[in-house]
Amino acid sequence: MAKIKYALVGTGGRAEFFYGEVVTVFKDTSELIAFCDVNQTRMDYANRLLQEKYEHEPIPTYKAHEFERMIAETKPDIVIVTTIDRVHHQYIIRAMELGCDVISEKPMTVDEDKCQDILNAIDRTGRKLRVTFNYRYAPHNTKIREVILDGTLGEVLSVNFEWLLNTQHGADYFRRWHRDKRNSGGLLVHKSTHHFDLMNFWLGSKPETVYAMGDLKFYGRENAEQRGVTEFYQRAYGSKAAENDPFALHLDRNEHLKSMYLDAEHEDGYVRDQSVFGDNISIEDTLSVMVKYKNKTVMNYSLNAYMPWEGFIIVFNGTKGRMEVRVSEQSYVNSGGSKADEGALKEKTITIYPHFAAPYEVEVEEGVGGHGGGDPVMLRDIFDKPADDRFHRAASHIDGAWSILTGIAANRSIRTGQPVKVEELVRL
Ligand SMILES: NC(=O)c1ccc[n+]([C@@H]2O[C@H](COP(=O)([O-])OP(=O)(O)OC[C@H]3O[C@@H](n4cnc5c(N)ncnc54)[C@H](O)[C@@H]3O)[C@@H](O)[C@H]2O)c1
Repeated sequence: MAKIKYALVGTGGRAEFFYGEVVTVFKDTSELIAFCDVNQTRMDYANRLLQEKYEHEPIPTYKAHEFERMIAETKPDIVIVTTIDRVHHQYIIRAMELGCDVISEKPMTVDEDKCQDILNAIDRTGRKLRVTFNYRYAPHNTKIREVILDGTLGEVLSVNFEWLLNTQHGADYFRRWHRDKRNSGGLLVHKSTHHFDLMNFWLGSKPETVYAMGDLKFYGRENAEQRGVTEFYQRAYGSKAAENDPFALHLDRNEHLKSMYLDAEHEDGYVRDQSVFGDNISIEDTLSVMVKYKNKTVMNYSLNAYMPWEGFIIVFNGTKGRMEVRVSEQSYVNSGGSKADEGALKEKTITIYPHFAAPYEVEVEEGVGGHGGGDPVMLRDIFDKPADDRFHRAASHIDGAWSILTGIAANRSIRTGQPVKVEELVRL
């Protein structure tokens, strides 16, 4: 049988998660045929990793403006999109128009217009788009779905969901492209797409009305000044002031980060190690969202990006009892360590409090690999035959769209001060 041919666009930190699997675990059925990026140095580094780490031949590279030529010359079946979020839609749409299916990293895109453009292109071309939601596959997250699906809590009436990003991983969004809201949609789209997808998945429902508040209260120069900080710098590399800043990221002290970003920045001016206490940050770090779902469940959600630990606490209140979940994750800097550490689990408890009976803990066996063992399962689902799945975890473009719509609605609510009806954003 002919191998499935993959081209990958966006050869930054996340890319290896996909191409590393294609050329090893799935090499009998899959073939990696081309890289595309705005930055030649980063593509060359990806090729170096292919050779040195995976004993794979270097593959052809194409600059972003040569994307169409890449498709014409290398004829991929599937394009994997791991660029910055702002341009996901461009590659998703063009790849489909040129006859390819697409796998896109989350978030599918950053605003409602781009989301509609993607949905229209799918209708027009009949091509397939999959958005990768690794969190669904983490065994504890699947277990939460199972408890709700099996009716242990009765009907879930309300949810309190708190997500904590810490001073290492949370800070990382304020060092680079994410800090400009146009690039990432802010944390409510870029990061919370995972959490809002989990909510849709756990409840088996969709968001209906969203109300939100959010602000930049910790990062940014003004906030630091108000706390009495007097020493500032633009970026950590070459800065004396950064030596005393526990938030600084030192690219030159990590060979991988140096090769991928510091050595490549002369081409496109992408500075990976900006001070989190600089100016020009347009995303929020302190966010509160209320959501009413179509099944009438209401949720209070909060996200804070400067916490001492990383993970989440969620409580489901149902007609038969309550479930309390606490999960703490290994903190990491994107691409700053080993793949398996990214989101690895440190601690988790799931406790059920039934009405009129003693509470009990639900045991969950975690798998091996990133995100509690969820990553390898998801990769199998993407690159191999999808397994028969009672929980329907494989996410389509429809799930991708629903997961960003809560955050997009929340962004609009923050701007207008009004509740937003999700169905008014796009035609799904
Ligand atoms: N699911 C997860 O757990 C997870 C984790 C990390 C990142 N991601 C996602 O992966 C994507 C990439 O994130 P990253 O951390 O690798 O970022 P990164 O900055 O390391 O890489 C982004 C790459 O996109 C390239 N790029 C920028 N503009 C481009 C354009 N116009 N055309 C082509 N390439 C362009 C950059 O040169 C860079 O190589 C994001 O969408 C992010 O949300 C997902």
